[in-house]
Amino acid sequence: MTQSHESLPGDPLAGQRPRRLLVGPGAPVDEAHELARRLEIPVESVPADHPQLGGARGHPPDPDDASLTWTVEGLAWLGPSGHVRVDFTDGRVGRRVRQGISAREPLARAIGLGGRTRPRIRRVLDATAGLGRDAFLLASLGCDVVAVERHPVVGALLADGLRRLPDDVLEGRLRYAAGDAREVLAGHPTDPPDVVPADWQPETVYIDPMFPARRKAALVKKDMQTLQGLVPESPEHELAALLDLALRHASRRVVVKRPTGAPALDAATRPSHAVTGGRTTRYDVYVTSTNTD
Ligand SMILES: C[S@@+](CC[C@H](N)C(=O)[O-])C[C@H]1O[C@@H](n2cnc3c(N)ncnc32)[C@H](O)[C@@H]1O
Repeated sequence: MTQSHESLPGDPLAGQRPRRLLVGPGAPVDEAHELARRLEIPVESVPADHPQLGGARGHPPDPDDASLTWTVEGLAWLGPSGHVRVDFTDGRVGRRVRQGISAREPLARAIGLGGRTRPRIRRVLDATAGLGRDAFLLASLGCDVVAVERHPVVGALLADGLRRLPDDVLEGRLRYAAGDAREVLAGHPTDPPDVVPADWQPETVYIDPMFPARRKAALVKKDMQTLQGLVPESPEHELAALLDLALRHASRRVVVKRPTGAPALDAATRPSHAVTGGRTTRYDVYVTSTNTD
């Protein structure tokens, strides 16, 4: 990808910050210490019966005592509104994939896979990976997905979910890059550096911002609610800059997830068309090439 010079974001941990990392028996100790060093938080080794280690069964901490926990079951964020762990095999997303996800799904159609037995659009840059559910669904449909996440805690949860995923499930089609998607699109090296090969150009860039309406929606999934306590909303000027870069670098299309009824991400740039994604969601599609397959 070619270089350009954009101003880049402030503290990605501007939302809620974990106070500490609690490490239970059987957790990968070296990885835990490395994560705590990067997040600049203390590590505490605790016994298996520590009240906060139970993930879903763990006690919610005080609002000021959000923690990360790492057990044999994986890394979890335990915030005031509950716990979040990325589980691609047992969780809701894994179940959906096992039941068979269709290329007729709204997200798949918006990305450009619709109705084709062999997807023609394969290289997707998920610029706002979050907990990786959309990225996982797209990789399950055969896309080669680079998932970029700038929030270090969310990224660590995603990386851990991918680490626990058996190799034969996606066969390397979903790779996580830590950092800001604007930097990745502008050609800055990724972390780790080999996630985006030099000749890898996204055909589609997918953007799913944390939008204000979603914060209020009654139907928001529980892990998304919990994530909202952790991740600050992106300011409009940042999203406009991300869309602009995406439009310049996606060889076929850019897809932006929006709440139903909300205006397009940037009033100055009209989508080519939209795909309805159910009662609450719409996908705005910006075709960047004349080849629309
Ligand atoms: C609504 S969540 C995405 C949910 C995701 N589609 C999923 O399926 O789990 C938005 C995420 O985008 C991340 N984000 C926002 N702007 C970003 C940027 N410029 N680069 C990388 N990540 C970004 C936020 O930290 C947040 O985790």
